[in-house]
Amino acid sequence: MANNNIKLADTMAGRVEQLAEQRRTIELGGGESRLQKQRERGKQTARERIDNLLDSHSFDEVGAFRKHRTTLFGMDRAVVPADGVVTGRGTIFGRPVHVASQDFTVMGGSAGETQSTKVVETMEQALVTGTPFLFFYDSGGARIQEGIDSLSGYGKMFFANVKLSGVVPQIAIIAGPCAGGASYSPALTDFIIMTKKAHMFITGPAVIKSVTGEEVTADQLGGADAHMTTSGNIHFVAEDDDAAVLIARKLLSFLPQNNTEEAEFVNPNNDVSPCEGLRDIVPIEGTKGYDVRDVIAEIVDWGDYLEVKAGWATNIVTAFARVNGRTVGVVANQPKVMSGCLDIDASDKAAEFINFCDSFNIPLVQFVDVPGFLPGVQQEYGGIIRHGAKMLYAYSEATVPKVTVVLRKAYGGSYLAMCNRDLGADAVYAWPTAEIAVMGADGAANVIFRKEIASAEDPEAIRAEKIEEYRDAFNTPYVAAARGQVDDVIDPADTRRKIAAALEMYATKRQPRPAKKHGNMPC
Ligand code: HXC
Repeated sequence: MANNNIKLADTMAGRVEQLAEQRRTIELGGGESRLQKQRERGKQTARERIDNLLDSHSFDEVGAFRKHRTTLFGMDRAVVPADGVVTGRGTIFGRPVHVASQDFTVMGGSAGETQSTKVVETMEQALVTGTPFLFFYDSGGARIQEGIDSLSGYGKMFFANVKLSGVVPQIAIIAGPCAGGASYSPALTDFIIMTKKAHMFITGPAVIKSVTGEEVTADQLGGADAHMTTSGNIHFVAEDDDAAVLIARKLLSFLPQNNTEEAEFVNPNNDVSPCEGLRDIVPIEGTKGYDVRDVIAEIVDWGDYLEVKAGWATNIVTAFARVNGRTVGVVANQPKVMSGCLDIDASDKAAEFINFCDSFNIPLVQFVDVPGFLPGVQQEYGGIIRHGAKMLYAYSEATVPKVTVVLRKAYGGSYLAMCNRDLGADAVYAWPTAEIAVMGADGAANVIFRKEIASAEDPEAIRAEKIEEYRDAFNTPYVAAARGQVDDVIDPADTRRKIAAALEMYATKRQPRPAKKHGNMPC
């Protein structure tokens, strides 16, 4: 271990050799056998993760020689290189970032006073310099030997997470155990990437069994797939550390360094030629499903987008992409899942994404094909009112440019929740297939012509006639266009050009709001 009590050499060369020796020892973390065990589990070491994440040779470590000051329970003799966390700064695609990486080979990566202080100081540097903060979590949690000092350390991390929130992007990479209260640190960041070698839960399988009697494996309870498909706690699943780093780098490429900047323009190619393929994706029949990601891919640069929470609340798609080189956040109903209805989870997913984009000056683009909020007792009891309200709130609060394109259905409250004109959309376009109405023609005709249908000789014939009548009158884009709710009804092939032009036009958008400490978003 790095030792302050060594006999110092008498020459500069000797001192430099001593320094190198101490550094080699620190870099060995918990020692060869523990590093080996880490690799055998398919996990990289704390330092390998940082090296892979950052541009080569850009890592500048800070605090390698830091030591804890605990003496109880044998800690005075314990070997704790870098106090179990590697911290510092470097670059990704040439842009500065701050990083921390827990070293599981050193006391299980457990966090005591000094480890937490190192992490918090790194976060403070991210704040001061306006640079993103990325943190690899791989730890047994609070260092038990340090008692309340460990808890206090976590408290300081949470506080710092919140301080950074909305100022610099924070990305958590869960690469090993992350249990108990410790999991609230990643939960307070903007994005969680989780590898399939990792677990995250508040109480593990053993505690759950003893308290509730439920039997569950660690993977079933808190593996990456469970968090992606069931709890919705994470944003990306990665097969392993290498894949996690690729996701983190790609994600960062879409984001600005901080809330006072805009994301970098990447390869703007000014290609606004018609995308004729767009005319063939959305079926004209409202009952037919399709994959809205095909629409997104046709419109965004190079067909390239990064889907966020791709495995959860799949009835809505949230993704980062670029249009003419400019980063946008895409929110799109997904008609192939639950007909694209909005439900509790979809509302939460969208609201979180909209909030993030607004915090970091990323324009929002909506693709709307939504029949309504999902009906059902469970949805009502689960609080669809307050969850759906989050979307209304997030869109209304967002002052970034907002461009909405109605592809097909846009009914009732869900039309508003997908950012219509009244919720502040700067540009609204509708395809000729759009049906912007208070509800679908079938439902509408059944309500307003109920008596007529019931008393008719042939109720079904009258019902069909009335549905047709209502559809022709209201379920088109033209009534909305006549009221100024839609700027233009467009050929689908022109969609990319229209979005690109609107983003250009509203790039200088300024929308002051009344001064307040902060709003009160429903939760
Ligand atoms: C001190 C710890 C530690 C901890 C692990 N170690 N967790 N040391 N404090 N929290 C040490 C082990 O003693 C061991 O030391 C080494 O790390 C590796 O641990 P193993 O158990 O051998 O590894 P493994 O079998 O992979 O199991 C990993 C584990 C397990 C599942 C994480 O270590 C574990 O259950 N740890 C305790 C988890 C826990 O209860 N943490 C405190 C929670 S309270 P040696 O010397 O043998 O290599 C908490 C509150 C936070 O976190 C609240 C914040 C608000």
